[in-house]
Amino acid sequence: MTRIFESDLELGLGTRAVHAGQRPDDPTGAIMTPIYQTSTYVQLALGRHKGFEYARTRNPTRDALERNLAALEGGTHGFAFASGLAATDAVLKLLRAGDHVICGENVYGGTHRLMTQVFAQLGLTFSFVDTRDPGEIAKAVTPATRMIFVETPSNPMMRLTDLAAVGALAQDRTLLVAVDNTFATPVFQRPLALGAHVVIHSTTKYLNGHSDMVGGAVVTHRDDLAERLAFLQNAAGAVPGPFDCWLALRGTKTLSLRMRQHDSNGRCLAEWLQSHAAVQRVYYPGLADHPQYQLACRQMSGFGGMISLELGSAARARVLVESTRIFALAESLGGVESLVGHPASMTHASVPRAMREEMGLTDGLVRLSVGIEDVEDLRADLEQALAKATK
Ligand SMILES: Cc1ncc(COP(=O)(O)O)c(C=O)c1O
Repeated sequence: MTRIFESDLELGLGTRAVHAGQRPDDPTGAIMTPIYQTSTYVQLALGRHKGFEYARTRNPTRDALERNLAALEGGTHGFAFASGLAATDAVLKLLRAGDHVICGENVYGGTHRLMTQVFAQLGLTFSFVDTRDPGEIAKAVTPATRMIFVETPSNPMMRLTDLAAVGALAQDRTLLVAVDNTFATPVFQRPLALGAHVVIHSTTKYLNGHSDMVGGAVVTHRDDLAERLAFLQNAAGAVPGPFDCWLALRGTKTLSLRMRQHDSNGRCLAEWLQSHAAVQRVYYPGLADHPQYQLACRQMSGFGGMISLELGSAARARVLVESTRIFALAESLGGVESLVGHPASMTHASVPRAMREEMGLTDGLVRLSVGIEDVEDLRADLEQALAKATK
C-alpha cells in the first residue's frame, strides 16, 4: 500500500503536480523517477527484502505515481490501475453480492456496461438516477444501498452533481461516495474535500494528457478503504506497467498548466458556439445559461475543455465530425490535441437508445475535447466544418 509523503500536502497544487510523491533516486540522484522495468526484486535473505517483492504488488515507479495522484486529490493513498475501467472495477469490488448502488444515469458508457453487464451478474443491484437532483438520490436509497457513484461533470451531457449535498446525504446513511473526477481533474474539483470517499480517474485522459497510454487510478483518504483497495489491486492484478506509470507521472507535471489552457480555450469556444446559427444547443458548465451554472461556480474552480453541442440531426453530426481538420475524429479526450466524437455511436453506443434519448444524448450530439492549440485555429476549423454540416 502506497501512502503519500505527508509534507507534499502542504504544497500548492501546481507544485504538487511537479514534485509530489517523488524524491531524487537514492543510488544516483536522478531527478526524474526511473522506470523500474522489473518483475521481481532480489531478496537479502529469506523473508528479508527492501519492501518490494513482486511487481504486481509494488513497483517504485508506480509508487511515485500513486503518491503523486493521492497528493493532487488531497487523499492519503493512491492506487494505479491498467485503465480507468479497471479502477472502477476495483471500487465496485469493495461491495458484496446483494449490495445496491445508486449511480448517475449519465456516466461513461463503459461504466454503465461494467455495472449492468458484469457486476449485475455477480449480484450487485443498480439504480440509475438523475443525480442533478439530490432528492432523486435520497428517494432511491434502500436498506441494501451501500454506494453512490457519480460522474460530475458527466460525459457527455455535462450535468453536475452537487457533491457537498451527496456527501451530507451519504454521511447520514453511512454510504460510500465514489466520484469519477476524470473530466474536472483535481485542478478544478476536489471531491474528497466535499465528502466523497473515493475518487476515480481514467488517467488516460487529462492526467496523462498526451494520448499515449491507457491507465486508471483510485484515491482515498480512508485507511480502511485503502487497505481493501491495496488487497484488490494485488489480488485481481489489473496494474499498469512501469513505463505507463512513468508517462502518467510525466503528464501530471504539466497538469495545472494544461488545464488552464484547456479551460481558456473551452470557455472561448463554448461562448462562440452558443451564438452560432448552426448550433442548436451548447452543453458547457461555464456558460451562464447552463442550468447548473451556480453550482459549477461553487464546486469547480474552472470548467475545462469538454463541450457538447446539439446539431439537430445525425446527418449534420456526421458531416461535422468528418469535416474538421484540426479536431481529430477519435474516441477518448483530455489530450493536448483537440478531438471530436459522436457519443451516440462511439463512447455511449453501449447505453440503450431509450436511456440515451431520455437524457438528451441524441444522434445529433457532437462532443469536443478542446486541446491546447491556438484558439483562433480551433475556431476556424469548427467554422468551416459547421458550414459544411449545414450546407
Ligand atoms: C469519465 C470517464 N471515466 C472512465 C473512463 C474509462 O477509462 P479508460 O478508457 O481509461 O478505461 C472514461 C473513458 O472514456 C471516461 O470518459
